[in-house]
Amino acid sequence: MNANPFRLNTKILKDCKIYSMLFRAARKRHVSFHTPGHKKGKWDITELSFSDNLSAPRGVLKRAQEEIAAILGANASFILTDGSTSGVLSMLYAARESGVRSIALSNQSHKSALNGCKLLGLEVLPENSPNADAVFLTSPDYYGNIPDLPAIAKACRESGKLLLIDGAHGGHLHFEKGIYAGTYADLWVDGVHKSLPAYTQGAVVSARTAELSEKLAEGVDIFRTTSPSYPIMASVEYAVKFPRNERLEAEVMRLFSEYPESLSFGGDWTKVCFKIGKRAFEVEKMLEADGIFAEFCDGKNVVFYLSPATTKKQFRVLKKTLKKYLPYAEKTVQPTPAPLFFEKTGATEWVEIAAAEGRICAKPCGLFPPCTPLLLCGEKITREKIRLLQTADNLFGVKEGKLCVYQTNEENE
Ligand SMILES: Cc1ncc(COP(=O)(O)O)c(C=O)c1O
Repeated sequence: MNANPFRLNTKILKDCKIYSMLFRAARKRHVSFHTPGHKKGKWDITELSFSDNLSAPRGVLKRAQEEIAAILGANASFILTDGSTSGVLSMLYAARESGVRSIALSNQSHKSALNGCKLLGLEVLPENSPNADAVFLTSPDYYGNIPDLPAIAKACRESGKLLLIDGAHGGHLHFEKGIYAGTYADLWVDGVHKSLPAYTQGAVVSARTAELSEKLAEGVDIFRTTSPSYPIMASVEYAVKFPRNERLEAEVMRLFSEYPESLSFGGDWTKVCFKIGKRAFEVEKMLEADGIFAEFCDGKNVVFYLSPATTKKQFRVLKKTLKKYLPYAEKTVQPTPAPLFFEKTGATEWVEIAAAEGRICAKPCGLFPPCTPLLLCGEKITREKIRLLQTADNLFGVKEGKLCVYQTNEENE
């Protein structure tokens, strides 16, 4: 059996506890009468005498998690194989167990944050709300924007509020302490699979103090699968230990300075946001016909995601692509207004997207990805947002082409 079937960097592998365990096991006879049912188990195994158990780790997984925590500067870190979603839910649970009842949620929040609050009975307040018990930020956001973390963390410390950061897009930022979620947050998620070389769904959730770590462990125990994938766990450890790619970072920064009007840089070098304007979906289609797949298009911007594992060849393709499609870009691209929070309850109904203009949204919905609401509950639906929903390929919060809105009878106005 090939000792390195995934063609991983052998220098990094030497330091990876979980892959080493899998490689050792793969060299031995292994007749599988255990799960998973494909019975090909050598890499994709289950909890066996030698492979430890993520729910109560004592061996290789415990050591891997401790080393990850040391790299991320956490009191404790937990490997997740169910995406940042389970990390967001777990940290909201830990916050609630610490006495948090209301939370100021950035309006860039992923739907898992809204769902978590709903599930845990946490009151959602608009971002910047002074009355909230805790603050929940997304950093970086889908476009690579990083909020003023030092100032927000200081304000939270001074007012005794917990700071939770959803770093689903910032797993690679632990190299840059000044903009890394873990430098500022009490609880934070690193969505390792999005910007580091881990398999899809690999993530980590961490806590700053021993007290929060205990509560977070309870949350993780509730929201994480009891059948974590060993290949994903191994890839998470590998990804966190993957080295910084300074050469690539410097080249990307040069690219940002070459196209200052067409590319927006929000602080995170891995998100190359190409501001196109009206023809963005058209450009996305042409790119795909050419075999080039961006992370997402929001109807105005085509956003390319890089990682420290992006190859020189891939980067050359990006440079050529930007040059080729520059003539399609408008001079000024107005941002789509952020979704707005309003208090509203009442009877709801589903209406065709085209007929929803002027109605009040009753269920958060938006483009997928990035899976951040374009419309929030209580928000008046505008023509611009309808156009975006109608043009996008993939949506969430929509049922059979219909949006959930409040009924318009007077009681509900
Ligand atoms: C900001 C943010 N948070 C959380 C998530 C959920 O991550 P996952 O898909 O890994 O569960 C996403 C996914 O797109 C996201 O963009």
